[in-house]
Amino acid sequence: MKNTFAFPGRELLVPEIVKSDNCTLIDADGNQYIDLEAGIWCTCIGHANLTVRDAVITQMDNISHVGFCYSSDVVERAAGAVLELLNHPGGKCSFLCSGSESVEYGVRILHTVLNSKRIMTMSDSYFGAYGDASAKDSGKWFLFDWSKCESCTHEVCTKDCSVYSVIPFNEIGAFLFEPGSSSGMVRFPPSKLISSIVEDVTEADGLVMINEVTTGVGRTGKWFGFQHYDMEPDIVAMGKGIGNGYPVSAVSLNSRVVDLLCPDAVAYGQSHLNDPLGAAVVEAVITEINEHNLIQHAELLSDVLMDGLQRVAAESDLIECARGRGLMAILVMSNHVDVSKVAELHRRLISRGFIVDHRLGTNALRMHPALTIGVEKIYNFIAVLEEIVGAMEIELG
Ligand SMILES: Cc1ncc(COP(=O)(O)O)c(C=O)c1O
Repeated sequence: MKNTFAFPGRELLVPEIVKSDNCTLIDADGNQYIDLEAGIWCTCIGHANLTVRDAVITQMDNISHVGFCYSSDVVERAAGAVLELLNHPGGKCSFLCSGSESVEYGVRILHTVLNSKRIMTMSDSYFGAYGDASAKDSGKWFLFDWSKCESCTHEVCTKDCSVYSVIPFNEIGAFLFEPGSSSGMVRFPPSKLISSIVEDVTEADGLVMINEVTTGVGRTGKWFGFQHYDMEPDIVAMGKGIGNGYPVSAVSLNSRVVDLLCPDAVAYGQSHLNDPLGAAVVEAVITEINEHNLIQHAELLSDVLMDGLQRVAAESDLIECARGRGLMAILVMSNHVDVSKVAELHRRLISRGFIVDHRLGTNALRMHPALTIGVEKIYNFIAVLEEIVGAMEIELG
């Protein structure tokens, strides 16, 4: 790439993709690749989706962008659809441009209503490329290390526990939870821990915000990742899948937050706040998922993907484990496997036509395919993965 910066540390693997169709990418030489990454986990209903394309064309023909003092019915309709999905009656929804922005917007709202109390989150959370949620300054944030909770056998979390008792609930005004990405390492904090935190934060009148940028829109086999836990969040930030590759994101606030804010609405504006075009994309994505039962489809496919990955992991010394939820999966290589060998496995998969992600600087490969992927593509991927891992095992002795 002569004219653009690449993402630092990333090698350009396929320089000229010219066409796409659902989960297939086609390069300038006609080579086909099955995209098990859905871009950067964004194209949840597949590349070149016709419903989204038609919605974009229709909206472009009518009105794509207006100023702050103007709006369009499609924005109201899409906002209503998001509020309904999240069970936020009487709430409000704003449309923005990226996941980083939607989390930052929600965090700005939290700081507006918290009266200098801190926001608690897990220490391994990722919230975006910039801003307060990216910096997590200790004056405003409390970061909780839950690594010891993963193997904990206690039935409930109480203040008698040496790990749980470090949480300064009297200083915490909100809990911001990312339900399962853990900076892309696909880890799921235990339900009992999350229920206890939510209970203790809400008992003190605190708020619960969820970052659904990665886990939302069917990724985990439910509409939202928080639905695997027992909670009703006050604020939900969405990105990635909600735009299916188009740069639109959303934040949904329940009526309690709206009441806390009003009449001082959030002092935040940018040129594409509540653009009709982005809203039309969101509406099309939600409609497509509902009309084709894609959440249920993802839940069913999850068993095929996870069973396959776990079988390959169990058969090979090179792989420590496979974990995942829905269509969000990770394969973690064993400690003795050099990272260069993980890169080699990654390259071999691509040369056989399967795009997965090698998480930078780690020995992990990630798979986040579109909810629309066909079951036979998953079977083919598992078969090729098994073959390559087997061959590498022999080569490495
Ligand atoms: C959990 C999570 N939150 C927020 C973001 C930021 O989203 P974006 O890159 O669209 O700004 C990401 C991006 O990967 C993410 O994985």
